[in-house]
Amino acid sequence: MQVGRPQLIEWLSYDRKQAKELFEKARAIKHKNIGRKTFFRGLVEFSNICAKDCNYCGIRKSNKNSHRYKLSDEDILESAKYALDNNFASLALQSGELESRAFTSRVAGLVEKLMAIREGGFGITLSCGEQSEETYRLWREKGASRYLLRIESSTKDLYYQLHPNDAKHNFERRLGCIHLLRKTGWQVGTGIMIGVPGQTVEHLADDLLFMQNIDIDMCGMGPYIEHTDTPLYTRRNELWPMAERSFMTIKMIACLRILMEDINIAATTALQTSDPLGRTKALSYGANIIMPNITPGAYRDEYALYQNKPKTSDSFSDYIDSLETEIRAAGDEPGYGVFGDSPRFGKR
Ligand code: 5AD
Repeated sequence: MQVGRPQLIEWLSYDRKQAKELFEKARAIKHKNIGRKTFFRGLVEFSNICAKDCNYCGIRKSNKNSHRYKLSDEDILESAKYALDNNFASLALQSGELESRAFTSRVAGLVEKLMAIREGGFGITLSCGEQSEETYRLWREKGASRYLLRIESSTKDLYYQLHPNDAKHNFERRLGCIHLLRKTGWQVGTGIMIGVPGQTVEHLADDLLFMQNIDIDMCGMGPYIEHTDTPLYTRRNELWPMAERSFMTIKMIACLRILMEDINIAATTALQTSDPLGRTKALSYGANIIMPNITPGAYRDEYALYQNKPKTSDSFSDYIDSLETEIRAAGDEPGYGVFGDSPRFGKR
């Protein structure tokens, strides 16, 4: 649906009482266009080694307090088997950003192996940062089909408050990569962080219009959560209270669902961190994707983009039960055994 910038700014400025109507509208649009199924992506955070130095992120290269790890192929295949056993048909492989021949071929080999262990393959989402056109093409050929590359902010000025202004962190290159992904045949996802210092509802309205303009297939966005070992921590006094960041995230999800009725929208882990009911609210008011973390336990805590990341229970069956509870509390059904591709992409 086309919605003007002033209307979006008004919606994003709503208080809790006013937002009820917005939320109901988004919910109805979701049910009509997407249905009542929540799809799973088994999330494997396979390495926290990163060449970038984003000012907000706990795994930035300069953070010497981060313990670096890289999962073995065996570990990753083990996680995928877990996904298989629990009837998740989709995986999301996420890592720090590295550009090298070794990394390119490692991910290519991994995708190939993962596709082979499930009849009909997995729906694989990659989230491995900025890469060359050849790399994107290779990974796509190996069978991965979705790629998530957050723009973080579509306002250049704010982008450079969040990243160093140097050759490794270039706004135009990031945008260019989103276009390369489209060109090389991916379902393309992007997203932003909500509640970063200096961000206003005007910025957020522009982010929504940006996503609509470039016609994304998927979106993952969540609240910014400060991390002590990062430069942005010095601006913590400017932050909205956490409850406000969570509430704004739900409003953003609802607005995006109204703007783009048939895309996939994730209820992210960061949202669950900021509000225990966050993911259920997101699924109630527009989101349709949940990404259970299936990274092996020994590594799960080291992928610390932000602090106080929720600890997943040691027992995976308890974990699945709690996910199902969250999904049903939102009035949805778990979408087992299906990819859950972006309906928008299918129509293109
Ligand atoms: N708080 C919330 N989200 C974060 N990310 C990175 N650091 C933080 C943080 N401190 C998000 C970024 C990145 C994704 C992998 O995680 O949006 O793209």
